Amino acid sequence: MSTFLENQNWRYATKKFDATKKITTEDLNFLKEAIRLSSSSYGLQPYKVFVIDNPELRAKIQPVAWGQSQIIDASHLLVFANVTSISEEEIDSYIKNISTTRSLPLDTIVGLGDFMKSKILTLSEETKNIWSAKQVYLAMGNLLNAAAEKQIDVTPMEGFAPEQVNEILGLNELGLNATLIATIGYRHTEDDTQHYKKVRKSHEELFITL
Ligand SMILES: Cc1cc2nc3c(=O)[nH]c(=O)nc-3n(C[C@H](O)[C@H](O)[C@H](O)COP(=O)(O)O)c2cc1C
Repeated sequence: MSTFLENQNWRYATKKFDATKKITTEDLNFLKEAIRLSSSSYGLQPYKVFVIDNPELRAKIQPVAWGQSQIIDASHLLVFANVTSISEEEIDSYIKNISTTRSLPLDTIVGLGDFMKSKILTLSEETKNIWSAKQVYLAMGNLLNAAAEKQIDVTPMEGFAPEQVNEILGLNELGLNATLIATIGYRHTEDDTQHYKKVRKSHEELFITL
């Protein structure tokens, strides 16, 4: 079996972390780089990722995250927050980044910016919000895969009240909304769920070959 698939079988959404184990700075940087390199529609990356080690902040978040123990016990907590209303400035800044990174004169790529604006800025506020939140899920996927390669555990989480996490982290003022949480660290030996068999649809159920 490929290492990639072995890692997929190794990983699981950890229910109980070993609170005594911390991720090294080097490993944390590896995971951050995997998130940074994630693909996104147009490459816009319309989100921010908060890396939270601070125990007081985590204690505030736990009650609004279904009281889940991982929020406190994991080595680090990541809050992925999508940009709620993508602006013209956000797109201009991305186009500028392409221009600088690839040493391209701005006027040769202004058309790309105009195209993106015609597609994105014309969406309703609700659709813009949903669209940018979707991009976050790709970054989460990359995090899960990268962490599995390093045998670092991750629990992806939607089990929290976004409005309350927004309030705690002051996200509304930043034009952001908490989309997903990831708790990262090392599984506790007492977490029985690590021994559960993976439950997945069969190939026959999942794939339709045309
Ligand atoms: C978007 C998303 C949200 C999830 N939210 C939670 C959560 O809040 N708490 C939790 O313990 N697990 C959560 N999970 C874990 C899933 O239940 C788990 O990934 C799924 O049952 C498949 O099992 P596995 O990841 O262990 O293979 C979430 C997973 C995803 C992808």
